[in-house]
Amino acid sequence: MRIDPAPGVRAASGTAPLRDGFGRRVTYLRLSVTDRCDLRCTYCMPERMQFLPKREVLSLEELYRLSLGFIARGMTKIRLTGGEPLVRRDVVDLVRALGRTLGDGLEELTLTTNATQLAGHAGAIADAGVRRINVSLDTLDRDRFVRLTGRDRLDDVLAGIEAAKRAGLSVKINTVALKGINESEISELIRWAHGQGHALTLIEVMPLGEVEHDRIDHFLPLTAMRERLEGEFTLRDSDHATGGPARYADIAETGGRLGFISPLTNNFCAGCNRIRVTATGQLYPCLGGGERVDLRAALRSDDPDGNLARALDEAMRIKPEGHDFRIDRRGAAPAQQRHMSVTGG
Ligand code: GTP
Ligand code: 5AD
Ligand code: SF4
Repeated sequence: MRIDPAPGVRAASGTAPLRDGFGRRVTYLRLSVTDRCDLRCTYCMPERMQFLPKREVLSLEELYRLSLGFIARGMTKIRLTGGEPLVRRDVVDLVRALGRTLGDGLEELTLTTNATQLAGHAGAIADAGVRRINVSLDTLDRDRFVRLTGRDRLDDVLAGIEAAKRAGLSVKINTVALKGINESEISELIRWAHGQGHALTLIEVMPLGEVEHDRIDHFLPLTAMRERLEGEFTLRDSDHATGGPARYADIAETGGRLGFISPLTNNFCAGCNRIRVTATGQLYPCLGGGERVDLRAALRSDDPDGNLARALDEAMRIKPEGHDFRIDRRGAAPAQQRHMSVTGG
């Protein structure tokens, strides 16, 4: 499939940079291209996950036009997410089309992937102008990987990471820290990632959507994890910033970078610069909130430019100050019934 490089929705969607009601500039779009995934990470989704009907999903052309509308409103960074973005057929065409807009407002195009299919796409992604990618990987142990993801794909993931490195992409590993599952392996994961030249970011599990167990059983506060790591490594806080929610530290012993994404123990909402759009064109101004604006309706209306501009203004108006995640009560309902695979995180 080819995507016409000529902009469809452009500056006409308004040119005022997006700023929310709390004065925060919104410059980072997380765009989910599919809610589907070829893994079933136990903290993310149940084995029998109900996916969105394909007919409701935006076409690649629509995703592209939407992105142009966002760039016109000041988006400097676009991250393609999923589910798993690379399970969507022809998604690399979208990467290429967006890559051609780099330098013209858009400063960074990137993606977050589980890397099962990265080996076949890394070269094309790098050629399209992507410089760095984030790869989700919670264990290096094959049996544990199978238990955690429900699929025997660790070798594919490692081959994908290797291919990305060969293609010149800088890789950051995302690891959800899970009590009793991979907690004993975290320092080994850090040593491995840093040894390969990759940064690694630890993530606290977030209460989004029902899964087959209670997330409280595996919630590992990164405050405690950091203390533990400080017994083994020398961590020095770094002012490195990517525009994402991670706070970074440098590790003296490995020479590598370690990130912490701690929505539960160290709320970072005050500096929020992001919004996310689902594959069906629903804009969620907060990962933890129910607020939503329908961009698909705007895009498919008889005045897409005007309606998109109004929809984005509305999103800024309703963007909440922050989320209210809690994992402290057994049996409590998730903060949202929506799984992270719907919004792409
Ligand atoms: P960088 O550009 O490398 O900083 O990436 P990133 O951390 O912004 O993106 P990535 O897709 O790697 O996300 C890592 C984790 O951060 C995922 O679990 C996301 O769900 C989570 N995350 C991203 N934005 C937010 C947010 O606004 N709130 C919360 N609570 N989590 C977020
Ligand atoms: N809590 C925290 N992280 C999650 N991810 C998926 N579901 C959750 C959750 N409930 C992570 C994935 C991936 C990133 C996009 O989000 O592991 O690294
Ligand atoms: Fe798929 Fe990512 Fe969810 Fe794992 S965390 S099941 S790789 S969407």
